[in-house]
Amino acid sequence: MIIILLGPPGAGKGTQAQRIESSQGLVQLSTGDMLRAAVAAETEVGKKAKDFMEAGKLVTDEIVVGIIADRIEEEDCKNGFLLDGFPRTVAQAEALDNMLDQKNLKLDAVIEMQVDDGALVDRITGRYTCSECNQGYHDKNLKPKVDGVCDNCGSTNFKRRADDNKETVTSRLESYHAQTAPLLPYYGDKGVLKSVDGMADIDDVTAQINDVLGNLS
Ligand code: AP5
Ligand code: MG
Ligand code: ZN
Repeated sequence: MIIILLGPPGAGKGTQAQRIESSQGLVQLSTGDMLRAAVAAETEVGKKAKDFMEAGKLVTDEIVVGIIADRIEEEDCKNGFLLDGFPRTVAQAEALDNMLDQKNLKLDAVIEMQVDDGALVDRITGRYTCSECNQGYHDKNLKPKVDGVCDNCGSTNFKRRADDNKETVTSRLESYHAQTAPLLPYYGDKGVLKSVDGMADIDDVTAQINDVLGNLS
């Protein structure tokens, strides 16, 4: 299965992708996570991406298309994958169509997570992740079972993203509306767009996504 999770910053793409990855055995491909790893490792890609990311602007299509083209060649993508944060422009969507055509693969569904802009700032400024295993949490909405200890791996080290502040969120939302929202009619016209209510609580959103996945094929 090849699935895209589409939605504004803070919509819950990463949260749901981690759940689908474990329940459906689909590997999560998050361009945001890959770019943050490249920035941390100070690779050539990371050096090019850093300023765009910290300003809440999109990294160039060329960089992210290159990252995804390489990544989907890897063994763990053979049985399908779940794209989180890619594509984000019509040019990226066209590049993905070409990649899939060349491999004789088909896109099964694009799941749009609908969330009001007003809820996103709170979600993003309250977010943190485990430094060891990347499990996501939120100050109010999703706390670890034992305070300060990761449910998944037991680590007590957590981190926050450099772009998770109010100013950058505003710019990320602008990029979403101007550059990414045009993908909704793009995929709507292809008949693969499914929408879920991303304002519902986290387990409810998972159930809605599982319904969509269960009705495919
Ligand atoms: P990226 O890392 O993709 O960030 P984003 O799209 O801004 O999305 P987020 O990761 O912030 O949100 P999310 O939807 O994953 O929400 P989450 O599940 O964490 O991209 C970062 C940057 O990299 C971009 O700005 C750009 O510069 C660059 N980039 C990446 N891909 C690119 C591309 N293709 N092209 C160009 N540039 C690219 O949830 C947020 C919080 O809310 C969490 O704390 C969670 O616990 C909580 N939460 C989740 N769901 C719910 C719910 N239902 N109710 C209550 N709380 C919830
Ligand atoms: Mg994310
Ligand atoms: Zn952990």
